[in-house]
Amino acid sequence: MTAVHEQLARDLETARQRTLLLTDHDEPELLRQHTPLLSPLVWDLAHVAQQEDLWLLRDGDTRRPGLLPPAVEALYDAFAQPRAVRARLPLLPPVEARAFGREVRGRVLDRLERAGPDDDPFDVAMVVSHEQQHDETMLQALAIRTGPPLLGEGTPLPPGRTGVAGTSVLVPGGPFVLGVDAADEPFSLDNERPAHVVDVPAFRIGRVPVTNGEYAAFVADGGYDTRRWWSARGWAHRQEADLERPQYWSPTGAVRTRFGVLEEIPPDEPVQHVSFFEAEAYAAWAGARLPTEAEWEKAAVWDPATGRRRRWPWGDAAPTPALANLGGSALRPAPVGAYPGGASAVGAEQMVGDVWEWTSSGFEAWPGFTPMLYADYSAPFFGGDHRVLRGGAWSVEPSILRPSFRNWDHPIRRQVFSGFRLAWSVD
Ligand SMILES: [Fe+2]
Repeated sequence: MTAVHEQLARDLETARQRTLLLTDHDEPELLRQHTPLLSPLVWDLAHVAQQEDLWLLRDGDTRRPGLLPPAVEALYDAFAQPRAVRARLPLLPPVEARAFGREVRGRVLDRLERAGPDDDPFDVAMVVSHEQQHDETMLQALAIRTGPPLLGEGTPLPPGRTGVAGTSVLVPGGPFVLGVDAADEPFSLDNERPAHVVDVPAFRIGRVPVTNGEYAAFVADGGYDTRRWWSARGWAHRQEADLERPQYWSPTGAVRTRFGVLEEIPPDEPVQHVSFFEAEAYAAWAGARLPTEAEWEKAAVWDPATGRRRRWPWGDAAPTPALANLGGSALRPAPVGAYPGGASAVGAEQMVGDVWEWTSSGFEAWPGFTPMLYADYSAPFFGGDHRVLRGGAWSVEPSILRPSFRNWDHPIRRQVFSGFRLAWSVD
């Protein structure tokens, strides 16, 4: 077993501990479907194991028999079974789903034990990422869930600082390397590759994400009733869905519900649970726009002094709780200004962690894109009606995140832990 495979065995264990923690509820709770947008938790519980069986025990070959009978395995095919119908399927009960997960995992760990330097560890990392991403969608379901809190209030976070909300930093114009190569980031997913040079003119970007306090001023100024701040599609959706404020805010805008806890809305925390259309309208109201993906990534990792990318905004060191709010235990974003040590070379803070940040970019392949073993992870979504989100939220496990990581969703969605920061063109 190589050191890399050993680390991946630990990462698999970390992911499973998190999955089990998020599904440590009674059977009726796990069978509940909180929204047609998300699966009942018992589906995710078996789906992560079914995918692990497919990718790691059968090399992705669906013709080879898996540990589940084919008719049962078919229930966990994310493309064949839309989320809205999953609660009505004859799913494995929780106790059987957990046993299936243990069986698959035992075989995977046996294989890892025998892995040598010639065994490419990428597919194992891909499976870790898959399970951790499902853990995040389970958190989204638990956020929508009604009833007394199941997860508590979350772990403490560092305090913010005043004077950073509403300020911006300059990102100099010129070429920069967008995306990464496997040689530098062996566990980067297919859509992050390959690295390629793009020219990004000078722009300014918010030092920190837009806060609840700033967003409340938009609401109070009649932002949701003023057609001109909204795109045509955004306005049509605002009317149809009757949007008036971020998801989970009370009608008065004084309190919010967070994982079942009713609390005052902290004004200095990044706004969360807004759709792309709402972010876009706020930006227009504020005399700004959303950054493109390329702008976002340049502000996060480009070091103008060296003309090179940093691995993380602050440098090469892996994230720690002092640098970024990640890992999922906080159950909320940190106030703005909480991580001065995590600033990027150009001075942008909280680029990683806290909230996923909407960009103005659709989800497209980088030139030279090559699909990974899980070929339907990215490719079916290119060119669709999606906007890219960047940076990862408080809910994301740091070991699967990179500043090049690309998330995407429909522009109307807001069950995501989504916020945004502003950008301005510079003449
Ligand atoms: Fe999945």
